[in-house]
Amino acid sequence: MEILRTREELTRWRNAQPEGAVGFVPTMGALHEGHLTLVRAAGARCPSVIASIFVNPTQFGPQEDFARYPRQPEVDADLLASAGCRALFLPTPEIIYPPGHATSIHVEPLGHELCGAFRPTHFQGVATVVAILLNLVRPSAAFFGLKDYQQFTLIRRMVADLVWPYDIVGVPTVREADGLAMSSRNRYLTPEERARAAHLHRALRAAESARIQGTDNAAALEEAARAVLTEGGIVDVDYVAVRHPDDLTPWKGQGAAVILAAVRLGKTRLIDNWWID
Ligand code: PAJ
Repeated sequence: MEILRTREELTRWRNAQPEGAVGFVPTMGALHEGHLTLVRAAGARCPSVIASIFVNPTQFGPQEDFARYPRQPEVDADLLASAGCRALFLPTPEIIYPPGHATSIHVEPLGHELCGAFRPTHFQGVATVVAILLNLVRPSAAFFGLKDYQQFTLIRRMVADLVWPYDIVGVPTVREADGLAMSSRNRYLTPEERARAAHLHRALRAAESARIQGTDNAAALEEAARAVLTEGGIVDVDYVAVRHPDDLTPWKGQGAAVILAAVRLGKTRLIDNWWID
């Protein structure tokens, strides 16, 4: 696997790949099975897979975990190589945001809803860095986890609106045995918090059960999920919301829905979502 650190190295690698062959997996590192599943999904579709690791400062709020976000580039490089990755782009902030950088991308109103209501600058940071990465790598397809469903929806919207020729592919969430969605932030959890965290997934499944039993009202489904969170000792809840899966507008009681939630366990913020069909 080649390690590329500058724009020039990346461009040289990119120009040596056949047209239509490159699959791209952007990450912030501290890789786990969820990330590696994206790499394998990319490899199943594209002969040349490139990943990036960049802990993007602009998507963290001033009180958030940018400084303590786990960084382990050597371990990650080995994991990526063993999952079949051909190249790793490992830029510094100066490579992504050279002096004079002044542009940022806003996808509204979605960028200020759900997680965006609690992390007001987060999605403009995500959209902007993903735009830069996509246009540097110029992949035929880029792979994103459905675990970050709002992020996936927003990136798909941005790429469609700006008419960029990249396929945005969503990959199903990889979970631990008890249902907890894998996340680089799970390692922050104390054993006691880790035990409680399983109730996040259970809560979303409870909303699904209520739907199967005939509930067709978003507030009632959200209430079913909240009851399980409370029972499981998850009391610090940013939001629980049932939305339309295509564009995350409010769900009207018919057809497929997605339930999304964000909760806090101690210092750790966890998100998850579940399709209700
Ligand atoms: P990061 O949190 O490192 O995630 C990188 C990619 O892995 C994202 O597409 C995310 O949805 C996916 N992913 C994380 N956990 C997953 C799981 N359990 N199952 C499946 N996929 C999972 O998301 C980011 O980084 C950043 O915001 C980024 C897009 C790289 C922009 O900085």
